[in-house]
Amino acid sequence: MKIMVIVAHPNLNISRANRALTLELKNHSDIYVRDIYQEYPSWDIDVEKEQRHLLQYDRIVFQFPFYWYSCPPLLKKWFDDVLTHGWAFGPGGDHLVGKEFMVSTTTGGTESEYRSGGFNSFTISELLRPMQRTLTRCNGTYLPAFVTFNAIEGTDAYLAQEAKKYVEHIKAPMRELVH
Ligand SMILES: Cc1cc2nc3c(=O)[nH]c(=O)nc-3n(C[C@H](O)[C@H](O)[C@H](O)COP(=O)(O)O)c2cc1C
Repeated sequence: MKIMVIVAHPNLNISRANRALTLELKNHSDIYVRDIYQEYPSWDIDVEKEQRHLLQYDRIVFQFPFYWYSCPPLLKKWFDDVLTHGWAFGPGGDHLVGKEFMVSTTTGGTESEYRSGGFNSFTISELLRPMQRTLTRCNGTYLPAFVTFNAIEGTDAYLAQEAKKYVEHIKAPMRELVH
């Protein structure tokens, strides 16, 4: 299975959590990792290149810090630009049929804050629904997300441990993730 990770962090140089996750990914040469903020400093996304990449990979992971209960804006623009009518959905828009998609996000909030009645009122699964529906609307299979909670307070050791679990998660076959 060919895996591509699209990282969307506005500044990986000052990141702790996403940098730890990305560093671990670099130990796995079978995973193709890209940082779209670095690749597109002027936000001028090369749609054809992105679509070509999507065609080449079986599983696509979107990795980003959770910002205002969503993704950073360049990733939203990536969805808007790349998932075009007639290519990703609508008549002739069948290029993503059978692709597996996954989100990996890091949150400042703790896991217990992300539940009904908790500080953030909703679970991460609930808050990720617009992204889930975007990807299923484009005929993709949406797999369970990998979430690193408490990413600001978490120690370096915790983040390194999360990074190991992250790689296991994104390499796991669908039958292990969906049960
Ligand atoms: C603009 C902005 C918005 C944020 N919104 C949220 C949020 O909605 N929920 C949350 O749990 N953390 C939020 N945070 C905290 C980030 O998720 C946290 O700093 C990040 O996951 C840490 O990862 P990093 O070390 O890779 O930057 C926000 C941070 C910023 C800068």
